[in-house]
Amino acid sequence: MKIILGPASTELGERISELTNLEKVGVDQRTFPDGESYVRLLGDVQNEHVIIVQTTSAPQDTRIMQLAFIADAAKNNGARKVTAMVPYLAYGRQDKTFLQGENISVETVSAMLNAAGVDALVTVNVHAEDALKKFPFPARNLSAIPILAEYFLKKGYKRAFALAPDKGAMYIAEQAQRILGGEAGHLEKKRDRHTGQTSQTALNINVKGKTVIIFDDIISTGGTIVGAAKILRELGAVRVFAACVHPLLIGDAEKRILDAGVAEIVGTDSVPSHTSKVTLAPLLAKELQAPKSA
Ligand code: R5P
Repeated sequence: MKIILGPASTELGERISELTNLEKVGVDQRTFPDGESYVRLLGDVQNEHVIIVQTTSAPQDTRIMQLAFIADAAKNNGARKVTAMVPYLAYGRQDKTFLQGENISVETVSAMLNAAGVDALVTVNVHAEDALKKFPFPARNLSAIPILAEYFLKKGYKRAFALAPDKGAMYIAEQAQRILGGEAGHLEKKRDRHTGQTSQTALNINVKGKTVIIFDDIISTGGTIVGAAKILRELGAVRVFAACVHPLLIGDAEKRILDAGVAEIVGTDSVPSHTSKVTLAPLLAKELQAPKSA
């Protein structure tokens, strides 16, 4: 087995290679003047099971193409199996048709990757796990919520309230609760499918005088966290943190979240940024060391 260092996740790939002692293969990646991508493998993959570590956060279309090109290059150069290790799987939120005339983007992406030579996929906290069942190859979803919760445990926030910003994310808050040992709850969030506008309300949660950590899979524009933080302050929470697996943090999201009174934003290196205080490397390395991945 060898690790191919996808250009979007070189550092994470290096860390996984160190933890697993698996040989790494570099990639020469270039962008042509018109924006098209070029890749070339810088090592031998003949008869190998290769693991391509490549996240697909923005610029997601470019990164998906790079992943497909690397998979194709690996197969063309004799790799016997290609596993795409994609910490953040782009288009995961379009996992069904919400309005007539739409496509299911995450399925389209999986079909493209399959056509390029991907035989299996490992991802982390994909937005809707059920979507993976329709992929044309085996796909595994790992959760980084326990390691995010451990970060807060080490900082001394044992028994902090784990909050999900909507009911669908309650399973995330429960995973965090198992590590933190305190309470868990969720807000209610509604989204207008035409405008994308969301509204949040609190039902039956008591956070007065408590430290609350909002756990979510993704922070994108920050609107969800800003809205949740506002409600939590109104309900008397003394301290509010925001934790997410994929800190996309588009535009001024970080500033807006901090301005809303959130003490700290903690993300993973699924999407590298200065909020990536937790690395996914041990979680992903463990997955590769499990007998089923050999
Ligand atoms: C949606 O249901 C997701 O779990 C996140 O809550 C959402 O993508 C966050 O987006 P934003 O930061 O733009 O509110």
